[in-house]
Amino acid sequence: MERTKFMLDEERIPRAFYNIVADLPQPPPPPLHPGTGQPIGPQDLAPLFPMELIKQVVSTEREIEIPDPVRRAYGLYRPSPLLRARRLEQVLDTPAHIYYKYEGVSPPGSHKPNTAIAQAFYASEEGVKRFATETGAGQWGSALAFAGALFGIDVKVYMVRASYDQKPYRRIMMETYGAQVVASPSPDTHYGQQLLAENTGHPGSLGVAISEAIEDTVTHPGTKYSLGSVFDFVLLHQTVIGQEAIEQMAMAGDEPDVIIGCVGGGSNFAGLAFPFIGRQLRGEGRYRVIAVEPEAAPSLTKGRYEYDFGDTGQMAPLIKMHTLGHDFVPPPIHAGGLRYHGMAPLVSKLVDDGLVEARAVHQRATFDAGVQFARAEGIVPAPESNHAIRVAIDEALSAKTAGERRVILFNLSGHGHFDLAAYESYLAGSLEDFNYQPKQAADRKEVAEIAA
Ligand SMILES: Cc1ncc(COP(=O)(O)O)c(C=O)c1O
Repeated sequence: MERTKFMLDEERIPRAFYNIVADLPQPPPPPLHPGTGQPIGPQDLAPLFPMELIKQVVSTEREIEIPDPVRRAYGLYRPSPLLRARRLEQVLDTPAHIYYKYEGVSPPGSHKPNTAIAQAFYASEEGVKRFATETGAGQWGSALAFAGALFGIDVKVYMVRASYDQKPYRRIMMETYGAQVVASPSPDTHYGQQLLAENTGHPGSLGVAISEAIEDTVTHPGTKYSLGSVFDFVLLHQTVIGQEAIEQMAMAGDEPDVIIGCVGGGSNFAGLAFPFIGRQLRGEGRYRVIAVEPEAAPSLTKGRYEYDFGDTGQMAPLIKMHTLGHDFVPPPIHAGGLRYHGMAPLVSKLVDDGLVEARAVHQRATFDAGVQFARAEGIVPAPESNHAIRVAIDEALSAKTAGERRVILFNLSGHGHFDLAAYESYLAGSLEDFNYQPKQAADRKEVAEIAA
């Protein structure tokens, strides 16, 4: 019988994270202190992060061992399956082979626990009692709430207002895991109070929620900050995805020509792609790698590659990345996890070096793809993942036009079971596309009105 699923035994959960920095010709430019503009050292990051994570950021080792308690917690859902989308191939009538790595099998429903579990473990080893964090779509907040429950850490989540209103069930899931959730901007921080005084209907953004979580961290002893994307150690933890995929593609007897992931801050994309890019850098393979972002927040395709703040309130380190400006508030697209003004420095560097191609797609086109995928393969994808599916389908169709047997691998970063309101507006024909408007950066009030 033709195989559909390629499954690895629990024994095959990777034993080390893959650190791409070891294979890069030059390291990416260092983060700078937000106050002094000088490169930051471990002592600057210590108030925010557990020491073990800071060590990982400066490590140049290719492999960083995964502690046993982390591997055991991964055992709740890893290794995740790799599937061949045979029905989708048939519907598209394409000679392409389409594979997807499905990260929606984790209890909270996305790739995010891969780093949440690691961060919670290292923090608990160092005696941390409480985490403050932000969440866009709610996937990251659910993942950290879940990991906090596993390792006995309290979690406070600043949830971007637009998502808080669109997705009450994500909030309830986080509360079920024991987390405390507030809509951001919130009255719980000085920064949130300031924004609310300017505009009571502020839709929030990831940049704003990050500032609130950082302020919370530095004003609450015993609290560390946790984030679900962008930073090098987050991307590092996600490489379990690509390492498993390499083994599973070998089981399937195929080698990918094209590797695709959606990008918000860049972590699920990096998780799948970096182990393959590492092979390419070591001369062991050759791949076209595509990062897919929303037209409404196109940091890679329309942003500038320069130092910028990771957050709107200018409290986070300055990082060199593709950015639309730290005060850019993206329009309220349903892919809340992709509403971010910047991009992971490592992904930005690979785009700048020409190793990764970037593509921007509109919201409606992504839902066309997600619905077509759901009807063929059964999984209702997260709106973020629909961005990757759009480009996977476009690649399969262009392979058909070219009469080419192209092997496509994409990351299905999560399921969309909490995103049905978005599907409802798509099915009702009321989903809007938003063009990128740089002027919105300077005018938050106008964006707030769009969201209201
Ligand atoms: C399902 C899903 N995919 C993708 C993303 C985007 O984040 P990243 O680019 O870090 O993978 C998110 C973020 O919330 C998400 O929930």
